[in-house]
Amino acid sequence: MSDPRLAELSRRLPALRLLATAAELEHYGRDWTRRWTPAPLAIALPAGAEEVQAIVRWANELRVAIVPSGGRTGLSGGAVAANGELVLSLQRMNRLLDFNAVDRTLTVQPGMVLQHVHDAAREHGLLYPVDFAARGSCSIGGNIATNAGGIRVIRYGNTREWIAGLKVVAGNGELLDLNRGLIKNSSGYDFRQLLIGSEGTLGIVVEATLKLTNPPPPSQVMLLALPDMDALMQVFALFRARLVLQAFEFFTDHALRHVLAHGAQRAIDGDYPYYVVCEFDAADERQQEAALSAFERALEQGWVSDGVIAQSEAQAAALWRLREGITESLAPRRPYKNDVSVRVSAVPAFLHEMQALLAREYPQAEVVWFGHIGDGNLHINVLRPDGLAEDAFIAQCEHVTTLLAATLQRHGGSISAEHGIGLVKRAYLESTRSAAEIALMRGVRQVFDPNGILNPGKLFAAD
Ligand code: MLT
Ligand code: ZN
Repeated sequence: MSDPRLAELSRRLPALRLLATAAELEHYGRDWTRRWTPAPLAIALPAGAEEVQAIVRWANELRVAIVPSGGRTGLSGGAVAANGELVLSLQRMNRLLDFNAVDRTLTVQPGMVLQHVHDAAREHGLLYPVDFAARGSCSIGGNIATNAGGIRVIRYGNTREWIAGLKVVAGNGELLDLNRGLIKNSSGYDFRQLLIGSEGTLGIVVEATLKLTNPPPPSQVMLLALPDMDALMQVFALFRARLVLQAFEFFTDHALRHVLAHGAQRAIDGDYPYYVVCEFDAADERQQEAALSAFERALEQGWVSDGVIAQSEAQAAALWRLREGITESLAPRRPYKNDVSVRVSAVPAFLHEMQALLAREYPQAEVVWFGHIGDGNLHINVLRPDGLAEDAFIAQCEHVTTLLAATLQRHGGSISAEHGIGLVKRAYLESTRSAAEIALMRGVRQVFDPNGILNPGKLFAAD
């Protein structure tokens, strides 16, 4: 390592693993946005909290920016290192540290892949319920950094509901033990919750204690084809009143086309503009009958045009693939993504305005929407038309996002429901947070990270 700052780091931590080949810099310097050219200084792969702490102290002394890095499946540029930052990858800190049967908690290192968290909980007959399509690649530390949501929020809430304790190296180099797994702790500010969703701008999670719950009762998965947008919320209201929902997800015919082209199997013949995949408790005959009767009622009302209930686990997985495969099927096109939310009660009015806006502003681009409609969370993916240069496309999308942000503001919504602000959305933060709030957020950052070394330029422009 010829860079004197890295030489100093190696002198302080001779056992620290550092990577710096061109391929490694590229691999660790980007996330799933693929918009920025990675240009990190190097990659550090600490083996434990002590090394993380020493790196943060080194970074403060030498004023080196750090990008904390998990599975880099983020979609907002939160883990991008394009300005000579040190990427601090938590990949090697991926161990299960403890299972406590009385507390019903798992204590894990931050680099543990979400799927491995699920498996560990299942081995003890319990459930860690936060779940989404990137489960095989994303890390629990990254989930915490963005307060990740996903497909079961309607039943279980976001990541923040499931964190009993965090150990964190703050930007100032202090190791903090936050909440220590307590259920009750009314002793002042809850920094644990402040850290969750802070996108690596306040501290680096080095250990997390996760709450577990009972496994869900047996469930059924249903795919519904809907004739129009208004039917979406009508079916949702009906199903939520009559069934115990575990998930209620929607996608459009555009999304279906991409996912089918990517290898998924068609489950309903015919063309319909909207689809819903829902999963609900079906522990006994009464619940199964309730589902059928809700479906029949939706058919009678004309809110549903067709539907299918999975008869096996394999069929359930195939129906889920129609929804969960969308992001992967679109990825080669590098879509411009909006990830917005409004209160569930505001969804119908917002959807109408949003649809008119998108149709008007994107006369040529294909716009694919899908998302967690039961949480009021929509994912809008805009595909670059052939022949339009990348820069011109991004400029157009940013203009439309400004209009979308104003629409969201009118409807009391958020410019980032679950992906985080990162680099992609920092220009629109004011549409969701007041100037007074942003000033306080900056003040908090100053307290935790006085030299601004943690993920500068993410969430808000560099201090
Ligand atoms: C999803 O809901 O599938 C994820 O948030 C990913 C995405 O929006 O592309
Ligand atoms: Zn999502």
